[in-house]
Parts: sequence; structure tokens; C-alpha cells
Amino acid sequence: MRKASPAPGDGRRPAGTHPTHPERASAEGGGATRELTFRRLQAGDLPLLGSWLALEPALRWYQGGKAPTAAELEAKYLPRIRGEVAVACWILMRQEQPAGFFQTYRLRDFPSHPAGPRPRAAALDYLLAPSAQGQGLAAPALLAFLHQVVFAAPDILRCYADPDPANLASVRSLRRAGFRKSPGPQAEGVMLLSCTRRRAFAQS
Ligand SMILES: CC(C)(COP(=O)(O)OP(=O)(O)OC[C@H]1O[C@@H](n2cnc3c(N)ncnc32)[C@H](O)[C@@H]1OP(=O)(O)O)[C@@H](O)C(=O)NCCC(=O)NCCS
Repeated sequence: MRKASPAPGDGRRPAGTHPTHPERASAEGGGATRELTFRRLQAGDLPLLGSWLALEPALRWYQGGKAPTAAELEAKYLPRIRGEVAVACWILMRQEQPAGFFQTYRLRDFPSHPAGPRPRAAALDYLLAPSAQGQGLAAPALLAFLHQVVFAAPDILRCYADPDPANLASVRSLRRAGFRKSPGPQAEGVMLLSCTRRRAFAQS
């Protein structure tokens, strides 16, 4: 559900905020990324994450149409939580409430990624909680994740995302956060986008 637009005729809004989505401020030069924080995924989060993954649109775009069982969630995410698989998983927090799931990994650890085994590069995947969708939150949350997590590693210079080209909300949000079509050949059915460290911090 989208937030209500400002009252007709008001015409005033805080500096740097999006005309219809106040949460979008940080992606457009404001400071709202400071209100978005990340904490590591914990085993106790798995039921909540499972409930998010079982609903559209995450079910379609993130899960390929099949909701994960509790056993599947544990098999996939517990090794990541324990650090046995080099994918760092995070919960997005907004006003101290869980609002999304983000993960990132280095491409050198996953050579089958569409971008290939590039050095000094990472990739991310993400989804918002159903209650956080439709409010323009994804773009500032992506930017906050780049600032606070991905580019906190000083050797990472570029971050990739590979949304399904038909996932228009994600493609739009990634572009708003500074991701652009990556140079080089594009795999079929994948839109390879990337954001450089320089571009991410130019937007803060
Ligand atoms: C993708 C996702 C993160 C988008 O987050 P969001 O903040 O709820 O996005 P919004 O609904 O506010 O839409 C963002 C933009 O896309 C546009 N958009 C949304 N749905 C659209 C559609 N079907 N067609 C065209 N544009 C669309 C919105 O109008 C908005 O545009 P604007 O920036 O010009 O205002 C969220 O839908 C989600 O968690 N999806 C499931 C998981 C997923 O797809 N993850 C990404 C994998 S790459």
C-alpha cells in the first residue's frame, strides 16, 4: 500500500524528499539512509523471512514461485549465518522494525555469477517485507546497504545486481539507487546492472 501523497495545495515538503515518497529522500540527496540500518540475519529470523518469501511478489521474483519450507530455509541460511558459506545476510531495520532482507557476496567466491569472477566486485540480492513495499523504500534501502555494508569493505569498487528484466519495480529501484546497465555481454533473461563505489557515495 502506498503512503498518502502530501495534502493538495500544500506544496511544501522537507528538503531532499521525493514528492510522493518521503522515504526516498536519501536516494535523492537527503539523509534518510541514516534512519535505515542493517543487522545480521539470525536463526530466529528465519520464520519471519519465510513468511516474506511465501508471498507475492517475493514468491515470484525471489523464489521462482515455490515457497520455501522451514527445512529448506534452515538448509540454505544457517550455513550463511554460521559463516560456512561466503554470503553475508542482513535484515534491514526501519524504525527498529525488520523491513527487508539483503545479502551480499564477493564475485570471486561465485564465478558462475552472470558478471563472472571479477576481482574487487560484489553482488547483492534483496527483498522488502510486504508491509514495507509500495512506498519507494527500496531505492534508499539499497543505497544505505551499499554505504553501510557493501562498500564498507574498502577493496570493493563495484556492486552488481541481476534482476529479471520483467521485475520493473526492482529495476526501477536499482536505477534510482545508482545502478546502471553494465558494460559487456548480457546473459539471456538477466539484466546485469552495477553501481560503482564512486557513484554510490556521490549520491549521499
Ligand atoms: C522489488 C521491490 C524491492 C521494490 O520495492 P518497493 O520499494 O516496494 O518499490 P515500489 O513499489 O515503491 O516501486 C518502485 C518504482 O517502480 C515502479 N513500479 C512498481 N511496480 C511497477 C510495475 N509493475 N511497472 C512499472 N513500474 C513499476 C513504481 O512506480 C516506482 O517508480 P518511481 O520510483 O518512479 O515512483 C519489492 O517489490 C520486493 O521486495 N519485491 C520482491 C523481491 C524482489 O523482487 N527483489 C528484487 C530481486 S532483483
